[in-house]
Amino acid sequence: MNPFAAGLIARKPVDRILADSAAEHEGPQLKRSMGLGHLTALSIGASLGTGIFVILGEATPKAGPSVIVAFILAAVTALFSALSYAEMAGTIPVSGSSYSYAYATIGELFAWVCGWCLLLEYGVSIAAVAVGWGQYINELLRTLFDVELPAAIAAPPGDGGIVNIPSMVIVALACLVLVGGATESARLNTAMVVLKLCVLVFFCAIAFTAFKSGNLSPFMPFGVNGMTAAAAMVFFSYIGFDAASTAGNEAKNPTRDLPRAIILSLGIITVLYCLVALAAIGAMPWQEFGGSEASLAKILTGVTGQTWPSVILSIGAVIAIASVVLAVMYGQTRILYTMGSDGLVPKVFAKVHPRTFVPVRNILIVGALVAVLAGFVPLGELANATSIGSLFAFALVNVGVIVLRQTRPDLPRAFKTPLFPVIPVLGIGFCVYLMLQLEAPTWIAFAIWSAVGLAVYFGYGYRHSRLRTAERAAS
Ligand code: ALA
Repeated sequence: MNPFAAGLIARKPVDRILADSAAEHEGPQLKRSMGLGHLTALSIGASLGTGIFVILGEATPKAGPSVIVAFILAAVTALFSALSYAEMAGTIPVSGSSYSYAYATIGELFAWVCGWCLLLEYGVSIAAVAVGWGQYINELLRTLFDVELPAAIAAPPGDGGIVNIPSMVIVALACLVLVGGATESARLNTAMVVLKLCVLVFFCAIAFTAFKSGNLSPFMPFGVNGMTAAAAMVFFSYIGFDAASTAGNEAKNPTRDLPRAIILSLGIITVLYCLVALAAIGAMPWQEFGGSEASLAKILTGVTGQTWPSVILSIGAVIAIASVVLAVMYGQTRILYTMGSDGLVPKVFAKVHPRTFVPVRNILIVGALVAVLAGFVPLGELANATSIGSLFAFALVNVGVIVLRQTRPDLPRAFKTPLFPVIPVLGIGFCVYLMLQLEAPTWIAFAIWSAVGLAVYFGYGYRHSRLRTAERAAS
């Protein structure tokens, strides 16, 4: 095979990935400080946010009461990929997540494409989520003090403003926390996760008191099509379950805890999402969902006749979305850390601070870029493309499980996907199916994003890859 093509499909051997992560290269390393609780909270932190607080309200008019089944269907889709993630994370427990799994199984070009998709799943989505946070802050200000920030400082150019300050503030705060250290960040994230879980339990406790079974019929007013369209929409609320897999180098016992954290977090959010959806539909006829008003807050005000429960809910949403920003930004910096160690992005991303043991410069660069995106760029279709990017990365992880079982059956696996190969094959099928449900403009944005990614790879990554430099030196 010609050397150029061979370079593109060069795989990084699993043993080498593990050796690299065990401090083969010089300088300070990330510190192992996270236990199962922190890792589970990291995945819940990254996933539980705008999906349940906002998208439930938008998906219900499409599916009626069957939005509850849409949440289950989306969870099953996520579960197939989560089982594959669990197997890979237990076998290759490093911080690169699906990027590293693709590097070990289908070669450098796919690993790069996967890492580039993760920039959408993580980097671009932080900016989008930060914008949502700004909107919740405004809503809270309106409810509490009857004031709101002027559009000039609360929206980007193109969306009627000059700069979106609140979203830049939340990115800056997350940056500050992450620079402080991984343990501190994990503790704060865990506290925020506990709070957001409590707020949703609080919602269920109130909404179930007004449950009317009549609200559940007709159950599927728009048929199966309405329900599956809603499932594709609410799938967004599960994205992030994979975040624990970006903590491979900082987990105390990664082989044991990463698979557990991924599956546990998905189980917890699935139960909670379904309960919230059931409680919401039971308390308010589905025809009243949608519109500009936040549905969950509207339900609480309707049921209690008072505003304080909806204020608690809005505070919960502000905390929930802040923790998504924190957890997802953590994941993004660790993926870039791994890509930097491999030479596919500049090495500055892999430099760890000798006192705090976190990649400080990496965090500051990511923070600055995301803040600019969140503050000045109307993200539009690029934000929608985060779902495609995530689904593509998930599909590659499923492929990786199948490939690694063939190429390295000997590797110790802390967790094995049951019903192999049915589960990963179904995982690929469901990911592709959901990708096909997304609309043409989203695909176009994704295609442009991928083309830019390939240009960056051939302009930089291909020439600086450590794997290839080492091969050249050895030959
Ligand atoms: N799953 C995350 C959310 O719903 C991205 O906000």
